[in-house]
Amino acid sequence: MKVAVTGKGGVGKTTVAAFLARCWRDLGREVIAVDADPDANLAGTLGYHGPDIAPLASLKALIQERVGGAEGWGGFLRMNPRVDDIPEQFGIVVDGIRVLVMGTIERGRSGCACPANILLREVLNHLLLTARQCVVVDMEAGVEHLGRGTAESVDAMLVVVEPGWASLQTAGRVAELAGHLGVRNVQAIANKICGGDDAAFIRAHLAGLPLLGSLPFDRELELAARAGSVSGDSPFYREVLRIAQRL
Ligand SMILES: Nc1ncnc2c1ncn2[C@@H]1O[C@H](COP(=O)(O)OP(=O)(O)OP(=O)(O)O)[C@@H](O)[C@H]1O
Ligand SMILES: [Mg+2]
Repeated sequence: MKVAVTGKGGVGKTTVAAFLARCWRDLGREVIAVDADPDANLAGTLGYHGPDIAPLASLKALIQERVGGAEGWGGFLRMNPRVDDIPEQFGIVVDGIRVLVMGTIERGRSGCACPANILLREVLNHLLLTARQCVVVDMEAGVEHLGRGTAESVDAMLVVVEPGWASLQTAGRVAELAGHLGVRNVQAIANKICGGDDAAFIRAHLAGLPLLGSLPFDRELELAARAGSVSGDSPFYREVLRIAQRL
């Protein structure tokens, strides 16, 4: 199972991605958690508090070795570099979950053609198309940075929403873009739910997006994150476990 977690800023994408990874691990699956947000904090959310992790996009020697593009190469780039060993070599294991930090993908004029982009795109393609592990990708809001081929190979795009108009509007846009990119399975996860009113509000405004699950507002999450520990027995965990089993 390969999923991407998306949604508006601050709705809980990273939290949901981290708990999904934990739940899959606890269900006995091998998991790779990919941090595809330039402002990376998935490892930290999983409880990693070690030295900074160098994102793949910053590993110039690796990028040059695999893709090329350094001066003197005459601009020759390998568009299909070998990447199958990268998750193992450059991912760090946090509590039984392999975490891969992608780093900032340059946009703008250089577009897809810059060597770092080629490497990141190939790593993501490899993970989504051929890796035998469960993969959860914590994304930046929006889906533009998922290429067509990559998006098509996600088994599910999960859009996290919270009780409020803004995140529901973003969800609508994400669902539309995902549709254009060929993602067939787009589902919403309601987060920070405090009561029946919140759940009803979200259900009423999902505009046709199926609701995969509802996660409670849980102040303990914040406290646990601060303490660097997570309870495996919270209502939040139990709900994510149900989602993980349903996926
Ligand atoms: N169900 C919840 N109950 C209480 N707090 C929550 C819940 N889900 C997430 N949070 C808190 O909300 C904040 C934002 O969560 P998180 O970082 O997961 O969001 P995000 O969508 O990944 O944000 P960003 O767009 O910045 O990447 C964090 O402080 C997190 O602990
Ligand atoms: Mg995040």
